[in-house]
Amino acid sequence: MQTLPDTLCYLNGAYTPLNQAKVSVLDRGFIFGDGVYEVLPVYARKLFRFDEHMDRLERSLSKVRIANPHTQSEWLERCRRLIGAQPAADQLVYLQVTRGVALRDHVMPPDIAPTVFMMTSSMKPPTAEQRHHGVACVTARDFRWERGDIKSISLLGNVLARQISADHGAAETVMFRDGLLTEGSGSNVWVVHEGAVLGPPKSEHVLEGIRYDLISELCEEEGIAYNLRPIPETEVLAADELMLSSATKEVLPITMLDGAPVGHGALRGKPGPVYARLHEAYQRAKAMQSI
Ligand code: PDD
Repeated sequence: MQTLPDTLCYLNGAYTPLNQAKVSVLDRGFIFGDGVYEVLPVYARKLFRFDEHMDRLERSLSKVRIANPHTQSEWLERCRRLIGAQPAADQLVYLQVTRGVALRDHVMPPDIAPTVFMMTSSMKPPTAEQRHHGVACVTARDFRWERGDIKSISLLGNVLARQISADHGAAETVMFRDGLLTEGSGSNVWVVHEGAVLGPPKSEHVLEGIRYDLISELCEEEGIAYNLRPIPETEVLAADELMLSSATKEVLPITMLDGAPVGHGALRGKPGPVYARLHEAYQRAKAMQSI
């Protein structure tokens, strides 16, 4: 068994060492995966895109009919307390809200208190090697449920999808539903075609990553065209560049897909110029937009 760290975490009103926090076996998060979560990046002890993460949390909670147990300022106060207790300056805040503890019954019980859990860990950004050479990914059919827009803690589909790439020694699984690109098991996927950044439309099949709007803003700053539209698998396989984005990956180039190099000509199998510009712009945004 792994040794769990004793860093400070938050559980239902109390701050305790992570390795001592306990929840009931009847928590609906444990029994049904009945809850939602967020992962927020922290740079130099400042939360990056906090308001956007809070807005998505609110949307996820309302879609699963759990009342938000905290105001935004209460969330912020709790995040800050945990960030202050963590030794690393660059961190990830993980928070989850489950429907709470009740006797097992699929029907949503009225009037139970949600379980709130929060922890921080040190940020493990992509390595210099991954940024300079890109990562390998594999493709798979998107066999998950049809509500990928909810940031649900029920992640068995995503776990099974991620393991497909892990079994191939690859960094992520790029998924397709009915021949159209959806996303990765834990990241969004971007296609560069003739200098433009393309992403799948926001829908119930894709989690709207916080980086969706961020990448749109960075593209605008950089004068790069940005377009959300259905992307057939054939376009992904013929892309000039492919990229992943997430709270932990930031933007990361995919340079091999199913064992074949991505891109064309001299840039085949290498990170491309659009990635390089977005990566730079992302680093500037990190330095500017934190609370
Ligand atoms: N994953 N799609 C899926 C399925 C994800 O799980 C994630 C994030 C994203 C990207 O969203 P964002 O840009 O807000 O990080 C897209 C997080 C990091 C996780 O589960 O650890």
